[in-house]
Amino acid sequence: MATLRGGFRALPWANQLLAYQRASWKCASCKVAGSAAFRSARRYTTTSEGASSKPYYVTTPIFYVNAAPHVGHLYSMVIADVLKRWRTLLGDNNVQLLTGTDEHGMKIQQAASAAGMDTQAFCDMNCKTFQDLAKAAEVDYNHFIRTTDPAHKEAVQYFWEMLQHRGYIYTAKHEGWYSVSDETFYPQSQVHLSLDPATGEKRMVSIETGKEVEWSSETNYHFRLSAFQDRLLELYKTGFIAPSHYRHSVVKAVSSGLSDLSISRPAERLTWGISVPGDNTQTIYVWLDALVNYLTKAGYPFPPGEGARLGWPADVHVVGKDIVRFHCVYWPAFLMALDLPLPRNVLVHGHWTMNREKMSKSTGNVVNPFFAIDRFGVDVMRFFLTYQGGFTSDADYDNAHIIRDYRKYLQQGIGNAAHRSIGCAGGNLRTYIVNATAGNSPATPEDQAYQSMLEQLPTKVEEHMEKLNPRDALQDIVRATLKTTKYFHNSAPWKDPEQRQRVLFNMAEAMRITGILLQPFMPNKAKEVLDLFRVDTSKRNFSAARYASDPDYGEGVEKKILFPPLLVEE
Ligand code: ME8
Ligand code: MG
Repeated sequence: MATLRGGFRALPWANQLLAYQRASWKCASCKVAGSAAFRSARRYTTTSEGASSKPYYVTTPIFYVNAAPHVGHLYSMVIADVLKRWRTLLGDNNVQLLTGTDEHGMKIQQAASAAGMDTQAFCDMNCKTFQDLAKAAEVDYNHFIRTTDPAHKEAVQYFWEMLQHRGYIYTAKHEGWYSVSDETFYPQSQVHLSLDPATGEKRMVSIETGKEVEWSSETNYHFRLSAFQDRLLELYKTGFIAPSHYRHSVVKAVSSGLSDLSISRPAERLTWGISVPGDNTQTIYVWLDALVNYLTKAGYPFPPGEGARLGWPADVHVVGKDIVRFHCVYWPAFLMALDLPLPRNVLVHGHWTMNREKMSKSTGNVVNPFFAIDRFGVDVMRFFLTYQGGFTSDADYDNAHIIRDYRKYLQQGIGNAAHRSIGCAGGNLRTYIVNATAGNSPATPEDQAYQSMLEQLPTKVEEHMEKLNPRDALQDIVRATLKTTKYFHNSAPWKDPEQRQRVLFNMAEAMRITGILLQPFMPNKAKEVLDLFRVDTSKRNFSAARYASDPDYGEGVEKKILFPPLLVEE
């Protein structure tokens, strides 16, 4: 097997960078900005912004293109999009969201061949369905990466060369059980014999995922993962993994010892991937390739001092619990090896299941997210997934639950509150707002209690979002709308003109504040609510969600059905 000691492959920009890094790598902080080599590097642009303005950077996993997406993929996209939109709501207009597709590896190679298609054409076809899904779900992504993009290949090969250069890569014989479906090796202790229910045959499978494994014995490149045990354990003390529920198992696994990681496969087995620089008999392991995508988008290799301005490190990697090890162990270790800043958070969520079994492309027990969006509407799906999806536990998918939640929380919640308050105001909602802001509205203890709930709501929602918990944030908003309908019912403003003034003002405020807070979750419905109450578009940011802070809305409000009956069979 060829080694790279002698020289690097003939990519002029990479050679320039390597020459530069070789000359200066002893002291990363002393790198001098403005080197000619870096000025000619890929995507090096100068702007007037200072290095301090790091974009807020959120990512989804990049999804395998072995099959079309399902509701689980939609969920990760929606959660990441809610985080992005929340940040924008706070007034940050430098927010980046990256999603994309993972197109290399044995799994894709085999899926394309099973489909009888050219591999790239197969990737193009399935990649498009993920792009279509992101659009259908109104995921406001800034960039859609494909690991077959030439820029990504360059970033991965450069990343490899740097690992090699720093002495973290060596060759050795590797034996173990490989799962093509999970694209990972498992040690003997993590596989067992199992009966295939479909064929009655015995086969070796991963204990964790139930996916078939095959014995493999080959010489390949290894990464010195074992060298990072202590630093990883230190990292987990700082947070890094959210929610903390997942930290325990990661700490346990890492404490029990880390083996070095096989990071290439012989090209005779795996051709569909990125070649090891300088050794085309080996193909880079698909997970090393895939993880680097987060850097590629940020413009890696970074010119000195430019990483932060370009967006690195990521603020949040949203991932499913199936890929915690890759994001919380391998990924920070790779980055540590190159002294690159570490992502601030990995936000892990649970799985959507069908009859309590993980919804999975390779098992085929999936819900088509396009049909679900067509049937219930994009905002309702975003609402349902965020409201019911679990971070620390799984959630079972059921259309009946969507219909139930639509009625209970949306029709009878915010829809009903809007309708009844507009109705009760008899075309004069604006008058109640003017009077209240002029101070002409005595409040009962019930009004005061309700008002104080509304006053606290934005902060409570913000606290959940700071903890990266969109589910609890949305649940608090919904709870507030249910309290709103109850408040309206109990105060009976239609009976008592004296009561009416304060109650209708509070109802209008409830609609305005919840409308503002719902924008990241249900962008279209929230807009409908805010349009309905004539809230000025310049007063729809988080700071406007303060009670009684906007005296100007509510002119000419007319009744409108926000959540019509669902045209669905049950
Ligand atoms: O693992 N419930 O891709 P993948 C919730 N390419 N989320 C689910 C889910 C479910 N039932 N099924 C999938 C890969 N997901 C790699 C990732 S990243 C550098 C490389 C979501 O197509 C969830 O986010 O198998 C999960 O982690 C991801 O899709 C796995 O998608
Ligand atoms: Mg998977």
